[in-house]
Amino acid sequence: MDNAADTLLIRAEAADDIRDVRKLNKKAFKGNDEARLVDAVREADYFIPALSLVAEKGGRIVGHILFTPVRIEDAGGATPALALAPMAVMPSCQNQGIGSELVKHGLDECRKLGHKIVVVVGHPEYYPRFGFVKAGEKGLKLPFEAPDEVFMVIELVPGALSGVKGTIEYPPAFHAVT
Ligand SMILES: CC(C)(COP(=O)(O)OP(=O)(O)OC[C@H]1O[C@@H](n2cnc3c(N)ncnc32)[C@H](O)[C@@H]1OP(=O)(O)O)[C@@H](O)C(=O)NCCC(=O)NCCS
Repeated sequence: MDNAADTLLIRAEAADDIRDVRKLNKKAFKGNDEARLVDAVREADYFIPALSLVAEKGGRIVGHILFTPVRIEDAGGATPALALAPMAVMPSCQNQGIGSELVKHGLDECRKLGHKIVVVVGHPEYYPRFGFVKAGEKGLKLPFEAPDEVFMVIELVPGALSGVKGTIEYPPAFHAVT
């Protein structure tokens, strides 16, 4: 029988969740950088509240994912995209599929809001299962040094990357941590 306490709910972050999201990021990343990044993005005018999602289970916040606008810049102009960063699941709740639900719901929400491209810098064994591919092979570059395989991209709309090349420009909140 379904136990309501075990039901996983993915929803947009509310003001009451902010402290829990901060604690969760500190715990999952064993440091303050990602918690500070989320706080800084939340204060910025480019923050998209619908794309800061939490995973709630039994009344507790056990996961969080954030998507932030970036630009793919090249000589011909700029293309809007989103960056998935950061994402965290409470250590005691990892490997139960919560992260996967956050990514899947998150990408659906991005698509619903009309976004077409999402980039991520993260675990190369993890994100391909959601459809991410190596971004370097698509002609995208990072503004900092990182191994090729950690930089990935997904098209939310087929063909969204056709004719798009360039370097990701992250918004100011990321400059302190990238
Ligand atoms: C990465 C993270 C969000 C995954 O959340 P989760 O709820 O455990 O994920 P799921 O249960 O959906 O999936 C588990 C899978 O993630 C993989 N995974 C978790 N951490 C990983 C890591 N550091 N490197 C590679 N894969 C990792 C597990 O090996 C597992 O793979 P499997 O399904 O092939 O066995 C979570 O482990 C976390 O918060 N880690 C610390 C913070 C972090 O690294 N965030 C991501 C930054 S890119």
